[in-house]
Amino acid sequence: MDSIGFFFFFLSPFIFCTSSASPPNFVLLFADDLGFGDLGCYGHPSSLTPNLDRMAAGGLRFTDFYCTSPVCTPSRASLLTGRYQTRSGVYPGVFYPGSRGGLPLNETTIAEVLKPVGYATAAIGKWHLGVGANGMFLPTRQGFDHYLGIPYSHDMGPCRNLTCFPPDIKCFGFCDVGTVTVPLMHNEVIKQQPVNFLELERAYSDFATDFIATSAKNKQPFFIYYPSHHTHYPQYAGVEAAGRTLRGQFGDSLFEFDNTIGNLLTTLEKTGVINNTLVFFTSDNGPELMRMSRGGSSGPLKCGKGTTYEGGMREPAIAFWPGTIRPGVTHEMASTLDILPTIAGLAGAKLPQVMLDGVDMTDILINKERVKGKP
Ligand SMILES: *[C@@H]1O[C@H](CO)[C@@H](O)[C@H](O)[C@H]1NC(C)=O
Ligand SMILES: *[C@@H]1O[C@H](CO)[C@@H](O)[C@H](O)[C@H]1NC(C)=O
Ligand SMILES: *[C@@H]1O[C@H](CO)[C@@H](O)[C@H](O)[C@H]1NC(C)=O
Repeated sequence: MDSIGFFFFFLSPFIFCTSSASPPNFVLLFADDLGFGDLGCYGHPSSLTPNLDRMAAGGLRFTDFYCTSPVCTPSRASLLTGRYQTRSGVYPGVFYPGSRGGLPLNETTIAEVLKPVGYATAAIGKWHLGVGANGMFLPTRQGFDHYLGIPYSHDMGPCRNLTCFPPDIKCFGFCDVGTVTVPLMHNEVIKQQPVNFLELERAYSDFATDFIATSAKNKQPFFIYYPSHHTHYPQYAGVEAAGRTLRGQFGDSLFEFDNTIGNLLTTLEKTGVINNTLVFFTSDNGPELMRMSRGGSSGPLKCGKGTTYEGGMREPAIAFWPGTIRPGVTHEMASTLDILPTIAGLAGAKLPQVMLDGVDMTDILINKERVKGKP
């Protein structure tokens, strides 16, 4: 054991003692259709992802992290329940604006695991686990105190102006679906329709940082689930990101998401809770390669979204928790199924009394020997 290992060996019981008094906060960032090769810290030559790269340099980067499905909806169902999608029945396809179903209410989400131990909970962005009659499947009915977002994919309606640079880039290819524009919902109420995509990310960022500030002020532990629309097709970006990268619309949308991550990290720092917050980043499934330069990259892996080859299911993943997670790279295999049991364990919350498919990966995050030679 090296000296840092020693330090952590002795420190971890201390961390667990204090964590029962002041349980950690959780920020779960979920990219959309982002591939294994898309981030700067995973080797992409022209992506601009300074904040994710900063998380990777100061946290734990996975090389063998998997989602459970190569498409959005089932992947999200597994993430939030810690169970394969076949158990909740949310598979193999995705929900549409007209779908009647949703994630069954008798399933227990991460938010529902955390509520009984006093967490404030918020979901921001792309839900895609059903709306249902009278909004019965919305996040607010699944353990989240607050929600701001589009409840399904942002291409599930006629496209709007999506970016200011180049001006008036509308849809590219086939994505104008139907005649009903997608709504932006605040909790269970439509706040804006059609959505102004040029200002959407700013609204999400403000909502998330306000939630952090309020929770920190109230000294309440919190859980943010931020499933971003980025980098799903068609890509969009507001003034702060449009035209700023060398990677076209895809790069701009990824950069816009990365900017929000930067805002969240800064807010965690300013409110004094960063050292007590686990920030976890991954993606729902691989890149949509059929979009060519408007899709992502699975790097050296075979194929992408919609396939069960590595490129469809193996994802970038980064765990960041300054002072608790040692910087490094891990080749341990883990998956989105492991997030619920891990969060439950760290929060001291009870596991749902159902068949779970994931395992608590706290050992990988905090205690394991790391691959040497990487930051
Ligand atoms: C939820 O209800 C459905 C339908 O009644 C059932 O098949 C399923 O096993 C239930 N799931 C849980 C976690 O109780
Ligand atoms: C889209 O852009 C065009 C041209 O820039 C502008 O005239 C129009 O008002 C915009 N529409 C929306 C919905 O923002
Ligand atoms: C987090 O911990 C580091 C290292 O101990 C310390 O320098 C920093 O001030 C702490 N940040 C906050 C916001 O408490």
